[in-house]
Amino acid sequence: MPEQLSAPDAGSTPPWDTWRDREALQQPTYPDADAVTDVTSTLRRQPPLVFAGEVDDLRAWMGAAGRGEAFVLTGGDCAETFAEATADHLRLKIQTLLQMAVVLTYGASLPVVKIGRIAGQYAKPRSQNMETRDGVTLPSYRGDAVNSFEFTADARTPDPKRLLDLYHHASSTLNLIRAFTKGGYADLRLVHHWNRGFTQNPAYSKYESLAAEIHRAVKFMEAAGADFEAMREVDLFSSHEALLLEYESAMTRIDSRTGEPYDTSGHFLWVGERTRDLESAHIELLARVRNPIGVKLGPTTSVSQMLGLMEKLNPDGEEGRLTFITRMGADKIRDALPPLLQAAASDGRPVTWTTDPMHGNTITSSTGYKTRRFETIMNEVRGFFEAHEQVGTVPGGIHVELTGDDVTEVIGGSEKLDDESLADRYETLVDPRLNHQQSLEMAFQVAELLR
Ligand code: PEP
Ligand code: CO
Repeated sequence: MPEQLSAPDAGSTPPWDTWRDREALQQPTYPDADAVTDVTSTLRRQPPLVFAGEVDDLRAWMGAAGRGEAFVLTGGDCAETFAEATADHLRLKIQTLLQMAVVLTYGASLPVVKIGRIAGQYAKPRSQNMETRDGVTLPSYRGDAVNSFEFTADARTPDPKRLLDLYHHASSTLNLIRAFTKGGYADLRLVHHWNRGFTQNPAYSKYESLAAEIHRAVKFMEAAGADFEAMREVDLFSSHEALLLEYESAMTRIDSRTGEPYDTSGHFLWVGERTRDLESAHIELLARVRNPIGVKLGPTTSVSQMLGLMEKLNPDGEEGRLTFITRMGADKIRDALPPLLQAAASDGRPVTWTTDPMHGNTITSSTGYKTRRFETIMNEVRGFFEAHEQVGTVPGGIHVELTGDDVTEVIGGSEKLDDESLADRYETLVDPRLNHQQSLEMAFQVAELLR
């Protein structure tokens, strides 16, 4: 029987709402509590954005990545914006992920699990509640799901109706993703053709020999009669930080097949570095849904905190259920990661490990921009592979902030973007992203590491 996803009865407290008794950090302060209730009851009546069967498939894939039988590529904006949820921006982002995935598939000789920070990544944790400009202090921008970036009192006041806009933008984005990935745009021959364009640029000539190998492999498949028509469709899963608890709770449905709750706001959900305390409301909510989930682990994570998270989030040791996304910083990962890998291995319950080489490596440029250096990012990725090699565990994937556009937000890379060029096209509202070319360059370098 096909699955049916249903919301709990109106007025009843759903079984996953135990988080309400816990401390919930990073939540917006809405001026009108009744307006929040109106919005969440509307959300509860909306169709699910993703389906339980898809979520189960992704959990199985994450399990494969944990065993070294697949490799995970997660990428997308730090913060999506409503204004950029357009066909053009989304197409370029999807294209970038598909191009990277082909290079990584070749490098790893493994299936690549493609996950976007997309179709829901609209809320941000902030270190400061308030922002001051020219003597005026207003609430910080917390993402388009909460308030508007514009620096006026009106724009910065959290508005719960934005949660409905979030739902509708996520819905139209998922529609485009399905159209692109099932409608011929993901055809291996087409993606390969785009990659040829990249490596023909003289700036990237150092990747020519790997590119030529991939080209020969595609030619070989063609000659051997591989069914390219059967490879026109791919799965691209959605993910975001499960930050806004009212939204995540309101999007949770019960699967008729098993009676279990699924958070249908996205396939994969993660808890950020600032909200991952074992007793937090965020961990409590995600402990109760069936999705594959991630937790960011920064450099101060202790072995006992990590083991506590494994016990709380994956007590039965189900493969693919729990991913740790490490974001240590390039200068710390070689010391901070091995003890965690060792302790998890001794525990024995499976963990899928991915590296987020972005969030531990944020700096301010001499020209005053929040930026990251491409070479430092790659250094953390190398540290991640070295740590796993040392302990004998599996490096399961990468998690990066990127865009398909030619922005100038991260310095370095073969085009040698410098502090001055950041001003040319710095568009992010929160963290600096790899641009299209830097993303492909990273894929080529990670592919070399995977060989
Ligand atoms: C993020 O992924 O955008 C983020 C805020 O990361 P972290 O929680 O690791 O700081
Ligand atoms: Co970020």
